[in-house]
Amino acid sequence: MYNSKTNVKAIILAAGKGTRMKSDMPKVLHEIFSKPLIARVVETIENIYPDNDTKSIVVVGHGADVVKDYLKKYKNVSCVLQKEQLGTGHAVFVAAEELKDFCGTVLIACGDTPLLKSATLKKMLEYHIDKNADVTVMSAVLDNPFGYGRVVRAQDSSIEGIVEQKDANEEQKAIKEINAGVYCLNWQSVKSAFLELKNNNSQGEYYLTDIVEWAKSNNKKAFAYTIDNINETLGINSRAQLAEAARIMKEEKLGELMDEGVTIVDPITTSISPETKIGRDTIIYPNTYINGTNKIGSHCKIGPFSHLRGDVEVGDYSKVGNFVELKNAKIGSHTNLSHLTYAGDATIGSNVNIGAGTIFANYNSITKEKKRSTLKDGVSIGSNCVIVAPVELEENVFAGAGSVITKNVQKDSLVLTRSAQKEYPNWVIKQKNLLNKKGEE
Ligand code: UD1
Ligand code: CA
Repeated sequence: MYNSKTNVKAIILAAGKGTRMKSDMPKVLHEIFSKPLIARVVETIENIYPDNDTKSIVVVGHGADVVKDYLKKYKNVSCVLQKEQLGTGHAVFVAAEELKDFCGTVLIACGDTPLLKSATLKKMLEYHIDKNADVTVMSAVLDNPFGYGRVVRAQDSSIEGIVEQKDANEEQKAIKEINAGVYCLNWQSVKSAFLELKNNNSQGEYYLTDIVEWAKSNNKKAFAYTIDNINETLGINSRAQLAEAARIMKEEKLGELMDEGVTIVDPITTSISPETKIGRDTIIYPNTYINGTNKIGSHCKIGPFSHLRGDVEVGDYSKVGNFVELKNAKIGSHTNLSHLTYAGDATIGSNVNIGAGTIFANYNSITKEKKRSTLKDGVSIGSNCVIVAPVELEENVFAGAGSVITKNVQKDSLVLTRSAQKEYPNWVIKQKNLLNKKGEE
């Protein structure tokens, strides 16, 4: 069914070099919580209308091959190559090839703004349609607008143009309303602009921002959609901004979790990825790092000093203690992994107790293969065991401390691989006597 609000295609600008990152890798592949910046933008756009297959065209240039290769996994994303980076307006011109006959809204965003939210873009798209606008620019008011394009408004507060920092006069530099770099365009109405943009500015570039002036002089309607959460506009140009974005992302996540009834004992030393879900009354102790996609139940205790590396599920009332590392592990409820354990590629049932220092040996460094092990409900593993994958321990198996388990174990068994304990009475005294005799010789 045709719906003007959801009839959207996106262009994501990602051809720039990112010089200030000082990196061998294209800027948009730098990661926050193990997800590249470009992936965060692509997914934000996909999630505006989760039931529609919103198509995105990514403009690639610097490091085009690696970026294209990374984006292969997104079925709604195609890439176009901007061979020379002649400016943001030129980047859209290159993408326009793919959009010739498209009737609807083109949403333009940058590949380096990982904090943008789907809900914000949705509201902006609705604003754009409701206003029957030809051009809508996202803006924000910043205390320190340095570096951004400034939004120039007319007396009646309609927008007249955007002036880049490098082209602005003193009066314009004092404007605190900035261009966030996100645009909605009524495509059929403005597409011809990209044939007409000029590069007579201080950088000799074709500016996408000139679309506003173009709209004005062609009797088109241009508006600014001003957002309150200025964090969302943060573009990553340097490692410091990358760290800043990660900090904001984690603080937002911790705030949400606390609102939902999760205790975060020490927000300063706790990092939790946005892709992690946690049930209420779970307590996260200090120095815990939770990365990737995870689902933790209610009434759990995690940390201090736990490291969850992704694809981890923990059932209700379970405990993951200090110096426990989990990766690709599914853990039932009322299960304890209290200290010094590594569980990777593991399925662990409910009411399981894992003793201190237990290791799931899941990786063969010669074949580079990873294998999975399974511990069924009620299993108890003594301290310092090694579970060598792939093995399966059936219900209620009891493994003695220090065992190296390499074969499956049947239900209700005790399993032990340690050698029998031997005792040599008075051995110490004999040794001392020998030593004394030597001394006398
Ligand atoms: C741009 C805006 C500025 C705005 C700011 C918001 C212009 C002229 N200026 O400035 O008004 O305040 O974003 O962050 O648009 N890119 C290409 N091809 C190019 C040039 C750039 O794909 O030829 C991409 C870059 O990779 C980047 C994005 O476009 O993702 C923005 O380019 P950048 O050079 O960072 O523009 P800013 O100077 O930040
Ligand atoms: Ca930028």
